[in-house]
Amino acid sequence: MTAVFPPAFTWGAATSAYQIEGSTRADARGESIWDRFCRTPGAVAGGDHGDVACDHYVRWRDDLALMSELGLRAYRFSIAWPRVIPTGRGAVNARGLDFYDRLVDGLLAHGIAPVATLYHWDLPQVLEDAGGWPVRATAEAFVEYADVVTRRLGDRVGQWITHNEPWCVAVLGYQTGEHAPGRREPAAALAASHHLLLSHGWAVPVIRRNAPGAQVGITLNLVPAMPASPSAYDHDAFRRFDGTMNRWYLDPLHGRGYPADVLADHVAAGAIPATGWRVVEPGDLATIATRCDFLGVNYYSRAVNRSSAPDNLPQTVHVAPPSEHTDIGWEVFPDGLAEVLLRVHLDYRPGPLYVTENGASYGTAPDADGRVRDVARTRYLHDHLLVARRAILAGVPLAGYFAWSLLDNFEWAYGYRQRFGITWVDYTTQARILKDSGRWYQRVIDGNAVVPLDASG
Ligand code: FCB
Repeated sequence: MTAVFPPAFTWGAATSAYQIEGSTRADARGESIWDRFCRTPGAVAGGDHGDVACDHYVRWRDDLALMSELGLRAYRFSIAWPRVIPTGRGAVNARGLDFYDRLVDGLLAHGIAPVATLYHWDLPQVLEDAGGWPVRATAEAFVEYADVVTRRLGDRVGQWITHNEPWCVAVLGYQTGEHAPGRREPAAALAASHHLLLSHGWAVPVIRRNAPGAQVGITLNLVPAMPASPSAYDHDAFRRFDGTMNRWYLDPLHGRGYPADVLADHVAAGAIPATGWRVVEPGDLATIATRCDFLGVNYYSRAVNRSSAPDNLPQTVHVAPPSEHTDIGWEVFPDGLAEVLLRVHLDYRPGPLYVTENGASYGTAPDADGRVRDVARTRYLHDHLLVARRAILAGVPLAGYFAWSLLDNFEWAYGYRQRFGITWVDYTTQARILKDSGRWYQRVIDGNAVVPLDASG
């Protein structure tokens, strides 16, 4: 039996600007928070940075040829704000915008639908210097930037994603400090999350005005979670995890405001004053709840929540032990994809869903014959696609899937050590080799069906 997908299903691959472009000083690009963060000793593994990355800013035509060879129907990329408005607000840098203009035209010429993400984590450093996402003015600046970009590209880009994974921006950037700008300020992280969502809500009508007929949405990283045992402590750990990771974003986007239990936790922890959260101004929640055309879901793994409370007595853990992890340490758990898609569809009814990222980090290198036999990645994609199809059969309006990533690239704090690409990148020569997983995906796209593993060659 072949696992066939619906006829109009969108098959794509994804990247982001800072992770692949390089040329960080070319054509008057401004400094981003990642340029600065990478210079902080100890912030990024191996002292890696995005100065060259995959040199995509120079080699984009070759990458376009690669996408065409793959048969991609859509390509999800992000636009670097510091290229377009190097000073964050104000003067537009035509040369920065021209790059994306050429890329979009190139994609269309190859019959590949451009899907543009406006913010994939590379805030202009000047805006961080002025306070970053914890200040409301950054949300206003984002809307100006979104206006500039969509005025120029809105006639040709049919799908817009305002933000990629606001949880990562707020929590990793401002709470744990693992990502740029590396701050560790819980109250600021909460303010950042609100301003990210607010900027999304403000930007939606602006994008719609400049890109009539285009679809507008946001991408969240959703993590299906479950308590490790029946203990009340583990259930509470689960509630907190799901609350901060998933509901904190899903609820306000769908008109429910911030979840009361999570707000109460933040008040108890002192991150929100007991007298009220003044960061949220009248009208903000209605703005955030502006109806979108689709929701993007990035899915990699699940979480099993175990409380660390000392009096959480040992309980029989009722969750199957993880069987396999990718090189980055994330559990391989394909069923979680259906769980998360069904939950979002049934609980929130956002309309069409896209898996805007899914993939696996495996370091499998070229063999002596130059071929990359990344069997584990192919199996990962295969198993997740079967689950995606099962979700569709169960009624989820899943409209597309984007493999993360088209290329091995700069994996944020992990630097170049983690390779998520379906294409191998030799960072010394910048040569690209389509991995076996990429060849397999090519056949999936061609047949609009999951190619059985034993026949993948
Ligand atoms: C996601 C990011 C993406 C990439 C993958 C592995 O959180 O959106 O840029 O780093 O993880």
